[in-house]
Amino acid sequence: MDHRSTVQDAPPTSLAVLEERARARPEAFGRTSLIVCESLVRIYQSEGIEVQALQGLDLLVEEGELVAVVGASGSGKSTLLSVLSGLDVPTAGNVRVAEWDLMTMTARERVEYRRSTVGFVWQQTARNLVPYLTAKENVELPMSLAGRPRQQRRTEAAALLDVLGVAYCADRRPGQMSGGEQQRVAIAVGLANSPRVLFADEPTGELDTATSNDVLEAMRSVNRELGTTVVVVTHDPSVSDHVQRTVEIRDGRTSSEVLRRTATRDDGTEHEVAEEFAVLDRAGRIQLPQEYRETLDLVGRVRLTLEQSHVAVRRGQDAAETDDASSDAHRTGHGRRAR
Ligand SMILES: Nc1ncnc2c1ncn2[C@@H]1O[C@H](COP(=O)(O)OP(=O)(O)O)[C@@H](O)[C@H]1O
Ligand SMILES: [Mg+2]
Repeated sequence: MDHRSTVQDAPPTSLAVLEERARARPEAFGRTSLIVCESLVRIYQSEGIEVQALQGLDLLVEEGELVAVVGASGSGKSTLLSVLSGLDVPTAGNVRVAEWDLMTMTARERVEYRRSTVGFVWQQTARNLVPYLTAKENVELPMSLAGRPRQQRRTEAAALLDVLGVAYCADRRPGQMSGGEQQRVAIAVGLANSPRVLFADEPTGELDTATSNDVLEAMRSVNRELGTTVVVVTHDPSVSDHVQRTVEIRDGRTSSEVLRRTATRDDGTEHEVAEEFAVLDRAGRIQLPQEYRETLDLVGRVRLTLEQSHVAVRRGQDAAETDDASSDAHRTGHGRRAR
């Protein structure tokens, strides 16, 4: 065997290995997660103008999590929830909830998915409840559509209203309840058929701060006591005080996450810590916070260098730093240009 044939033989082998790895990868991304959004794109066309509401969004939610999704108005939160609740189909990407592939399911499967797997609470209190039915009857309605026996409906509706702290509203119609009570009843309606996930789009948008806190705490008890996975969308960043994980969407993409955990001090006492992380997407992109960019005047081309334990981002146009950066880049062999 001469040298040339070895060289010619080598590429097919490594190509096969690479292909195998590429095939294995989509499996690995979120394989054990309950909700998987991968590079989701949703483009709206209206009056000849194209709006990119989701621009390659990645999100994983594990079974049993309570996650808040925050973001400014227009950042794509409602679009994401319409996709996850099966009301809308994205332009591109992959999205799965439990065993349902939301990109490819048929209209019939969509109905079944919405009936069995997910529950919703909308911002408009009026959209959640039938005005001429009592709280109890509102909660029982989806149960009877699912064909559950009467006695079971009664018991379960009463139990749900109890978990949400609105048992006393059972015989009232929406018009006889406050906004916060209506939203808590709405959560009970969303949970009527024991969904795997409860989605709520700005459920506190029409409420004052104190009432909002009640509703968020109600979501928390649902998550804790019934074990339901909850995804709540809001423009109110203070929601992160109530949940363990807050995901921020900016321009149709997940940009950062705040995680809360209980840490132990040296003296053994416990305290809550909230840590903010930037999110590295599947294509390797991260968003640099605006204040970092402004402080260091990072615009346009920047230099990335791989250091021993971190990656440095430097101004591209600065001559002194350029020398510095290029010698680092040379040393590590990982100098990159980035836009
Ligand atoms: N049906 C639609 N047609 C055209 N543009 C839309 C439609 N729905 C939403 N958009 C646009 O998509 C972007 C994201 O909207 P949305 O998901 O409602 O954001 P959020 O809920 O975070 O306020 C906005 O620019 C919005 O104007
Ligand atoms: Mg919205």
